[in-house]
Amino acid sequence: MIIAVDGPAASGKGTLATGLAQHYGLPHLDTGLLYRAVGRAVGDYEDLPEFEARAIAAAEALDAGHLTDIAELTSARSGVLASKVAVIGPVRQALFEFQRSFATQAGGAVLDGRDIGTKICPDADVKLFIQADSKARMERRARQLEARGVVVDRYALFHQIEERDARDMLNPHGGFYKAADAHLLETTHLGIEAALRAAIAIVEKVMALKAGGRTSS
Ligand code: CDP
Ligand code: CDP
Repeated sequence: MIIAVDGPAASGKGTLATGLAQHYGLPHLDTGLLYRAVGRAVGDYEDLPEFEARAIAAAEALDAGHLTDIAELTSARSGVLASKVAVIGPVRQALFEFQRSFATQAGGAVLDGRDIGTKICPDADVKLFIQADSKARMERRARQLEARGVVVDRYALFHQIEERDARDMLNPHGGFYKAADAHLLETTHLGIEAALRAAIAIVEKVMALKAGGRTSS
């Protein structure tokens, strides 16, 4: 079973994907970490002409199976750099194979990101598109950062998340939209437990429908 979980920044897709992976005993890949690692590797070249070429080389050289320093990767700055390398077509191509192999491993997998249901796994068994309004997402990310001791400027964070969402949605090489067969899960007013219960209910329903379809055909 392949479960694809997509959604905008801080919508809770990582938390839900982790919960689903635990519930179904499946491996989980947070694909944002791949883009963050590439962005991090070329951060020093951000405003220089060689940024693009360096990002492509970093993506091609990435040891995606062994990412370290996750705390650094999940910083707000890494998120911004990630969205800047994510608009470069060859960077996405270089990261495709690893994601695809992870998804198609025996037994299945849960992947979360932006383009899982549209580009990486258009054939996923279950697709979830997680949504929450911008203010709720900013507040979630702020609390997540504060729990790590980071001092948060909420105004700046809100602006940064909106800017990143806009860059992602306009990404010409992206696939950041809800796939036609994805199930929308609106979590603005749902806590983590309630959101996970709702996600599991969707997965169960889709799998039951598929099983029914198989026996009747
Ligand atoms: O992966 P993504 O950036 O979409 O979000 P996340 O890292 O899973 O969630 C961001 C923060 O929001 C985490 O601290 C979660 O615990 C929290 N969260 C929440 O408060 N309510 C939810 N329904 C989902 C996540
Ligand atoms: O957790 P959050 O949603 O804040 O970010 P993330 O999932 O770690 O992704 C960071 C950035 O990587 C996104 O803003 C996208 O620009 C890019 N990304 C992407 O283009 N495709 C993916 N499958 C995952 C991330």
